[in-house]
Amino acid sequence: MSMVPVDYDGLIPNNVALGSDVRVKRALEKWHPGYIGWWMDMGPEGFQNALVYLRTAIGVDPKGWAKFDYVRMPEYRWGILLAPQREARKIPFGSHKGEDAWQEVPGEYRAMLRRLVVIQGDTEPASVEQQRHLGKTAPSLYDMRNLFQVNVEEGRHLWAMVYLLQKYFGTDGREEAEALLQRRSGDPDSPRMLGAFNEKTPDWLSFFMFTYFTDRDGKMQLEALAQSGFDPLSRTCRFMLTEEAHHMFVGETGVTRVIQRTCEAMKEAGISDPYEIDKVRKLGVIDLPTVQKKANMHFSLTLDLFGNEISTNAANAFHAGLKGRFREDRLKDDHELEGGTYPVLRLIDGQVKNDDAPALSALNMRLRDDYVADCQVGVDRWNKVIAEAGIPFAIKLPHVAFHRHIGEFSRTNADVDGNILSPAEWTHRRTDFLPSAADKDFIESLMQPQFETGKFASWIAPPKVGIDNKPGDFEYVKIADA
Ligand SMILES: [Fe+2]
Ligand SMILES: [Fe+2]
Repeated sequence: MSMVPVDYDGLIPNNVALGSDVRVKRALEKWHPGYIGWWMDMGPEGFQNALVYLRTAIGVDPKGWAKFDYVRMPEYRWGILLAPQREARKIPFGSHKGEDAWQEVPGEYRAMLRRLVVIQGDTEPASVEQQRHLGKTAPSLYDMRNLFQVNVEEGRHLWAMVYLLQKYFGTDGREEAEALLQRRSGDPDSPRMLGAFNEKTPDWLSFFMFTYFTDRDGKMQLEALAQSGFDPLSRTCRFMLTEEAHHMFVGETGVTRVIQRTCEAMKEAGISDPYEIDKVRKLGVIDLPTVQKKANMHFSLTLDLFGNEISTNAANAFHAGLKGRFREDRLKDDHELEGGTYPVLRLIDGQVKNDDAPALSALNMRLRDDYVADCQVGVDRWNKVIAEAGIPFAIKLPHVAFHRHIGEFSRTNADVDGNILSPAEWTHRRTDFLPSAADKDFIESLMQPQFETGKFASWIAPPKVGIDNKPGDFEYVKIADA
């Protein structure tokens, strides 16, 4: 591995020798004011002058890549950091398997590669936009800091993709980089590219579910792109993954703390039936069935991000060596998949059935399967908290056919167990599975800010340990300075 030191002196911290790449440096410096403009318009609402205890990437050495300090968000050092180049890296899969990894864009795949970069890039600012109003209702300064940490890092991920566009895709790359600042989450005229990134993140439970489920889609996509034969994309994604881990940590522990607080409050009040919803809500905590409904919502929206189960685009990207499978390098097969098959869940004669499809065409399905397995791990940990409290309830991932808008199951309605419902049954039972207006109102009523150092809102337990090992009364955000 060769490690290029990070140049931290200029406007744009980087380890890509930007100082000697005048064309790209100028292009990025030109893009910079637009980015800051976007951040001020569409980034966190308020708190832009607050000092936030943030982690900043200052290197790419796995042992010490970040430092923590108080920073005003607009002054965050958004840098371009690629994981170290691996000596003599080969293309690990597809029809070019075994050839030297590309350091330049292979001409025949230019359009496909650009599209992959743009789609990934579009998700990064989108989630910042979706979460922009949450600071105002933060349940603690600790949580507020975590929100802003996720936000600035999604901003950095946008930089990462924009660097690739500016460096490797000439004029069209520049246009795409501009367009990434123009689209807006949820805007009817110029929405973000993928559905889940145009949905609202109305409250903090949604934020935790989003970072658990939807940032985990990000992880899966980045893992698949980290395998790319186009080496700069692979290196970019490998470093983004180190940051992404924290986002899912925020989601997993956030939901854990919600569940923990609910269980504690139920025990204190002597309530053992999780379905005594009114009684539980009177305690100022979120009842477990509502937590389940939120999980149903965010899980199903995120599944749509994996696209159609059977996809020629996915097959082409794999065949070309641009996008691999989840941890391709750890899989033991021919890495070409020309002959194999893969079982795909399909709607056949009105029933959900497994059907063998050519493995190359079924790559989206496969990535989605890997994703579902990855999701289950944290759900099991949530359920441990509930079990330890002795409450007869378990969070369950809904069936993949439930509440879908893309792919095989978008044509039908299914319940959370995958049973097909008539349109009338679906309408009638929808709020058994997904948050109702009353559920949303209740959650919203709980979203009262708690900005006192070391204190937490009624509905969430404190974390086990602080960020950067800080004590419980640490002032993660200095709002007084705002
Ligand atoms: Fe990201
Ligand atoms: Fe993320």
